[in-house]
Amino acid sequence: MTYELSSTSWGEEEIAALQRVIRSGRFTMGEQVRLFEEAFASKFGMKHAIMTNSGSSANLVGVAALSYRAARPLQRGDEVVVPAISWATTFHPLQQYGLKLRFVDVELETLNMDVSRLEAALTPRTRMVMAVSILGNPAALDVMREFCDRHGLILFEDNCESMGASLGGRPCGTFGDVNTFSTFYSHHISTMEGGLLVTNDREIDHLARAIRNHGWARDLPADCTLGTRHDDPFFEAYRFVLPGYNVRPLEMAGAVGVEQLKKLDAMIAIRRANAALFVKLFKDDPRFIIQREHGVSSWFSFTIILNPAVPLDRAQVMAALRNANIEFRMITGGCFPQHEAIKYFDYDLAGGIENATIAHTRGFFVGNHPRDLTAELTHLRRVLE
Ligand SMILES: Cc1ncc(COP(=O)(O)O)c(C=O)c1O
Repeated sequence: MTYELSSTSWGEEEIAALQRVIRSGRFTMGEQVRLFEEAFASKFGMKHAIMTNSGSSANLVGVAALSYRAARPLQRGDEVVVPAISWATTFHPLQQYGLKLRFVDVELETLNMDVSRLEAALTPRTRMVMAVSILGNPAALDVMREFCDRHGLILFEDNCESMGASLGGRPCGTFGDVNTFSTFYSHHISTMEGGLLVTNDREIDHLARAIRNHGWARDLPADCTLGTRHDDPFFEAYRFVLPGYNVRPLEMAGAVGVEQLKKLDAMIAIRRANAALFVKLFKDDPRFIIQREHGVSSWFSFTIILNPAVPLDRAQVMAALRNANIEFRMITGGCFPQHEAIKYFDYDLAGGIENATIAHTRGFFVGNHPRDLTAELTHLRRVLE
């Protein structure tokens, strides 16, 4: 048996959607992307959803939009409080827009930012908190929201790993001023590659639509105040208002997204049933630290940290997993300050990052899928035993 990290969640509906697009001859961003954006915004009870070609691009567009908004834009040298564990492209746009990162350690059990350290991370230059719910498990988003409101900070929620999770009845990916999602292959829904930026802020919506598409004004509504509309349609069609990118999604990704979104709740229910078995199999074993659910997790995957208090040989454990055809990988992107790219960043540590380091060096995850994993999880338990 091979226990894979990820597998396709597509059925006939997605294949039919792709074929409809192929037959239509319209391949780049159009009606299907618009329909997916509308469905996505409505599903999460938000006003605006802007689809991009990846979650990374959604993060980039989000940071760019915040840097070009009229009132109190992000400026070079401003500080952002970030968790020590996330994916690399949570951090890269911050570096690219000249921001300084202040890393805060995570809790070893939830793997999310330890919010008891937020006050200590605050300086007069702090402008934003980056909230990341790791691998489906909601971070303390309510605490971060309250902290940001109290200190006049922006809350940016990178929810690329936690679609379908919620905290206190509110979906993850709706707590931030800017929120992002990924629809990459292995995620809760897959559009092959893809991502979304979600917001209730009309100005951010307009900025993001321009930045996504060459920085031009063509995708903006007639009453948009970004720049000045040209009377002559010749000039209006090519009116560049911002230094943007081309990070548009394909029409095929939008069409598949519409179908996948309809299946999201059912797929999360199966992921949660698998999680119940995983927790039952591992919760009472002191050798392994598994992720403690906070709120309602959408269980992207199952994390295991080899308890540092127990003398376990990591290499031996990994060799056993490999021999048993159990795929595994680093928890998200590991502890980011451990990576070589950090030399390009302006950053400091708001206290120690011991827990993130333990998760980096002694942690890994195995896959969760929207299908029954009883056989795979039983196999995993046997091999680790
Ligand atoms: C927390 C986080 N942010 C951003 C991304 C980037 O998403 P994408 O792979 O769609 O670019 C990922 C990817 O898995 C992620 O885990």
